[in-house]
Amino acid sequence: MERLKIAIQKSGRLLEDSLGLLHDCSIKVDNGRDQLRAQAKNFPLDVLYLRNSDIPQYVQDGVADVGIVGENLLVETGCQLDKILSLGFAKCRLSVAVPKGQSFTGIGDLLGKKIATSYPNTLRQYLKKNAVEAEIHVISGSVEIAPAIGLADAICDLVSSGNTLFQNNLVEKEVVLRSEAVLVASPQISTTKKNILDQLVFRMESVLKAQNNKYILLNAPNDQLEEIIAILPGMKSPTVLPLAMSGWSSVHTVIQEDKFWEIIHELKAKGAQGILVVPIQKMII
Ligand code: PRP
Repeated sequence: MERLKIAIQKSGRLLEDSLGLLHDCSIKVDNGRDQLRAQAKNFPLDVLYLRNSDIPQYVQDGVADVGIVGENLLVETGCQLDKILSLGFAKCRLSVAVPKGQSFTGIGDLLGKKIATSYPNTLRQYLKKNAVEAEIHVISGSVEIAPAIGLADAICDLVSSGNTLFQNNLVEKEVVLRSEAVLVASPQISTTKKNILDQLVFRMESVLKAQNNKYILLNAPNDQLEEIIAILPGMKSPTVLPLAMSGWSSVHTVIQEDKFWEIIHELKAKGAQGILVVPIQKMII
């Protein structure tokens, strides 16, 4: 029976979340610390543990059918892959940064300057779009050190928390690209593999939806019930059950986590009590 081959990072920032997502999709895979390939036990999926920078090319060449990779790498490699799903983790940006205290009024200030980066293609496109001619100095790692050792006037590198820039006395000035982990697929996979991919995407979507939503339970006095329900956004309509104590009901619904914090004080003001917020594992609408 045909199996879908998925390429994921062998080591690095995407590995843990990629394996976590497969786990949350109830797909059992061995961790690839000592192996380059693993078979999922309960789903027709083979996992190839590859170097991050190789993944787009391997998917394009059909060595793997699908892959989990940062969007930044797709842009940099220029590989023609189908973007299937944004996965919500490994959010970062590719930014231009300059030494603290150095004046910077806009991208035009980089004219004639030396910029160190591991993303020469993306930076070149960005400079071209802004009609700025600058010298690109390609470094494969530790880019942030380049200005301090006299290698460059500015850098263009990935920023997540901003800690690395801060530690190296650099200040972020221009965002070149925003990125997150995405599921990508080779444009030419067989119909059987496409069916497996559809099942995988269905599971991933239900996990991702669940991550952004919470199940909420609260006790409401019956005379405030309608007003409390009006505040609660839900999947369809909340479940209302009578409590053993007369005059009170239990209200259950699903809401987006960030919305919950917006309405919590309103709920309490209307007399809601015993509010419980519970994680959801899978969500199928
Ligand atoms: C990336 C990037 C930066 C750092 C930014 O490197 O190249 O150096 O993360 O993250 P921060 O804003 O949270 O400090 P990573 O550690 O992923 O390894 P790499 O050098 O192999 O790219």
